[in-house]
Amino acid sequence: MVREEEEESRSDEGVFYALDLGGTNFRVLRVQLGGKAGGVVHQEFTEASIPPALMGGTSDALFNYIAEKLANFVAAEEEQKFHQPPGRQRELGFTFSFPVMQTSINSGTLIRWTKGFSISDAVGQDVVAELTKALQRKGVEMPVAALVNDTIGTLAGGRYTNKDVAVAVILGTGTNAAYVERAQAIPKWHGPLPKSGEMVINMEWGNFRSLHLPLMEYDHAMDVESLNPGEQISEEAAFFGDEVHAKLKISFILRTPDMSAMHHDTSSDLRVVGQKLKDVLEISNTSLKKSRIVVKLCNIVTARGARLAAAGVLGILKKMGRDSLKDPQKTVVAMDGGLYEHYAEYRGCLENTLRELVGEETASSIVVEHSNDGSGIGAALLTASHSLYLKDKS
Ligand code: BG6
Repeated sequence: MVREEEEESRSDEGVFYALDLGGTNFRVLRVQLGGKAGGVVHQEFTEASIPPALMGGTSDALFNYIAEKLANFVAAEEEQKFHQPPGRQRELGFTFSFPVMQTSINSGTLIRWTKGFSISDAVGQDVVAELTKALQRKGVEMPVAALVNDTIGTLAGGRYTNKDVAVAVILGTGTNAAYVERAQAIPKWHGPLPKSGEMVINMEWGNFRSLHLPLMEYDHAMDVESLNPGEQISEEAAFFGDEVHAKLKISFILRTPDMSAMHHDTSSDLRVVGQKLKDVLEISNTSLKKSRIVVKLCNIVTARGARLAAAGVLGILKKMGRDSLKDPQKTVVAMDGGLYEHYAEYRGCLENTLRELVGEETASSIVVEHSNDGSGIGAALLTASHSLYLKDKS
């Protein structure tokens, strides 16, 4: 548990901005809030992928790039004559989905990078300060009012419109979950209890380990490889010929959309599988029999991942006492991320497993919902609830 935040719910109005960094794509959002009754009136966003060179470069280079995208977004709205009320600066929420030691609502130091990023001079730095410096370099005056991660943002965004949302899960480039806990049930918390009696827990569940979930040799192989490139083990040939194809040795070369396309191939000759193997891995002339095995492999890997994620959600429901009919309160689990959104077999397996785990009767009170862009909207909402101008508005 890296961060605990008191949940806030206030009625706010105005236009707020969010930067969302942490998945495959980076987003800049503008969200217009219409107060308690109005909800989210309007939202717009622009999206870009982070150039691979910046993922392993310097902190300045990454934050300059982000700041430039925001500057362009704001410049474009100047042309549309979109202005803030006089005397009021634009305010920004920063969704930064990496492990952070959060020191206040708008500051936090990066503990480590994940998801393919590796920018050593940013580790240990306050990511809000890094962003603010880059914004100043680009001449953008926009205070960061809230630093959140994608699970917290998704939870806040979901809960804004539906109080039954109590859990948020991201299943994409990385995975993590957050949920609403009774403050009294948090042994680490020694401060005053919040009025609502509730707090949000960011689980950072990617760090979870349990003797009940033994690591397989493939887990070890991936782990070793991720920490120490070059020490890859578990190399066996035979399936696609006597030698391991060069492309097969490249980490992460087979991306989720490729695997999903092969897994969902309904053609009788599995031509999508053949094509993907050729295009991505440069393996040609795969027999139908081998293509069928590839689909089965996709199924095994997907089912394992989906069942593990469902087990994680069950763990949260159990902790909240929402895993049985004793508490018939409806619980909505807000989910987001490319894996959940675009991989139908994965999503189906996760939802079926969850139903299987809680039982049919309880399953009717647990709803899994896709929360599209929830994290960016959530960051804008948290910005609104921590706005510099809040006092002036009351
Ligand atoms: C997006 C959210 O929809 O999903 C991000 O806005 C989140 O905050 C992302 O990090 C995760 O998905 P992926 O597939 O991009 O890693």
